[in-house]
Amino acid sequence: DNILLHGKFGQAGSELVIEEYLNGIEVSVFVVTDGVHSLMLPEAKDYKRIGEGDTGLNTGGMGSLSPVPFFDESLKQKVQKQIIEPTIHGLQKENIPYSGFIFFGLMVVKGNPYMIEYNVRLGDPETESILPRIESDLVPVLRSLKSKTLNQHSIEVSGRQAATVMVVSGGYPGAYAKGIPIYGTESVSNSILFHAGTKYTDGQLVTNGGRVFGVTSLAGSLKEALKLSVESAEAISFEGRCFRKDLGFDIL
Ligand code: GLY
Repeated sequence: DNILLHGKFGQAGSELVIEEYLNGIEVSVFVVTDGVHSLMLPEAKDYKRIGEGDTGLNTGGMGSLSPVPFFDESLKQKVQKQIIEPTIHGLQKENIPYSGFIFFGLMVVKGNPYMIEYNVRLGDPETESILPRIESDLVPVLRSLKSKTLNQHSIEVSGRQAATVMVVSGGYPGAYAKGIPIYGTESVSNSILFHAGTKYTDGQLVTNGGRVFGVTSLAGSLKEALKLSVESAEAISFEGRCFRKDLGFDIL
């Protein structure tokens, strides 16, 4: 169950690729680095498919959860030793003077992390769940990157758990209309509303993109945080409004 075969067969020749097939679960891990030291930020899990139960087309992200329950101390140590430290050493060895955020897109198979993709940025919609969990001031941390003194800093993470639900336009990720009036945002009080595809036209808030809002809530558990975000998403109304209520269906 862990071999993937694919190939091209044609007149000009044939090629057959045999590679390991990773049947696992994704997690997004983030560090901030000054090129010498690194600090891990809270991890998150994003949900990319439009439909509940992870069905339908891929999107820019329909929501995220942080923390990730299966990202335990043992897995965290493996990620630190097997992936983060070799990455920072590799940057140094190759004389790449990088400082900033690194996003490690990992697949976890039977408790072991496999590196799938790097991004030199934070993630969306993961950021909407991880930043509200950081209680300490990030500005001194970011300022320390220039002087390579990140090792003098730490990041305090809240014990509260975060769920972000993306509210999207009807039809997204296919064709969708823009300019649809949005109502109800003023009644959202238990969540943070991140405006994504919105704008004001003649004083009226209207849709202006496929992903319209990220709705993030913090609570004592992921289930409670998700409940609050779903309630807030329900309080926002516009024609065609769509969102997923089942985030965490695979891990909670
Ligand atoms: N959520 C995946 C990304 O930001 O690339």
